[in-house]
Amino acid sequence: MDRYGVFGNPIGHSKSPQIHTLFAAQTGQELSYEPLLAPLDDFPAYARAFFRDGLGANVTVPFKEQAYRMADELTERARRAGAVNTLKKLEDGRLLGDNTDGAGLVADLLNAGLALSGQRILLLGAGGAVRGVLAPLLAHRPAELIIANRTTSKAEQLVQEFAELGPLSARGFTELAEPVDLIVNGTSASLGGELPPLADSLINTGRTFCYDMMYSAEPTPFCRWAAALGATTRDGLGMLVEQAAEAFELWRGVRPNTSPVLAELRRQLG
Ligand code: ATR
Repeated sequence: MDRYGVFGNPIGHSKSPQIHTLFAAQTGQELSYEPLLAPLDDFPAYARAFFRDGLGANVTVPFKEQAYRMADELTERARRAGAVNTLKKLEDGRLLGDNTDGAGLVADLLNAGLALSGQRILLLGAGGAVRGVLAPLLAHRPAELIIANRTTSKAEQLVQEFAELGPLSARGFTELAEPVDLIVNGTSASLGGELPPLADSLINTGRTFCYDMMYSAEPTPFCRWAAALGATTRDGLGMLVEQAAEAFELWRGVRPNTSPVLAELRRQLG
């Protein structure tokens, strides 16, 4: 059986095995996909051992940067992201590193009916999650893309690095007031039940769309804040399914239908 899996530590909570098993059943692909608990102190050796017979793997926290460094070849989007969430064994045994997170976010925003082109977009955060989605978002030609972060200097650094790709600027949270079309929360604040200090005036009731890259059974603090102000909200469960679909296509050459898989995951989460 063709062997795939997801490297992480911890990994027990990962929904990737279920997502890829559903994709495989739906597309009639015969494969196995398992959670792979890699040791914190020796990821490369563990990954190499898996790839003696494994054909592909996803990579999650905390190994995405290590996977980036160990890949023999990188896609352009992985190079830009500085992180790898998908590895594929090539014919000659070398490892190709890709990053499908940004494409997953863009696909889910498009699923939600958004046109990104010409929009004013505010991206919250300046860590790995935000770095990974910058190039794919800018490829859709927004009118403006503002990166706001608690530590403003980190947002400024990203702007320097990605400025050639589109109309980017950096701000601190409290410098923001003008309404925007789309806010994407890429901070990990939701994990601690927190919310970046944002002005209510950023939301244009009935027009602004708010997307949290995190998801949970209950609406995240960011989605609750936005919904209370009349914004349309969506959490990151769809992004998770879409980034998986991109990886599945890279490995198997078949694009799964994501909507029934997202519906099943949502049902279970509830
Ligand atoms: P990830 O890989 O998930 O992006 P990360 O690189 O550790 O994780 O980045 C976490 C991001 O969430 C950072 O932008 C961080 O802000 P700082 O750069 O100022 O640390 C942001 N973040 C984390 N907790 C936050 C909070 N409670 N309020 C606002 N921003 C927060």
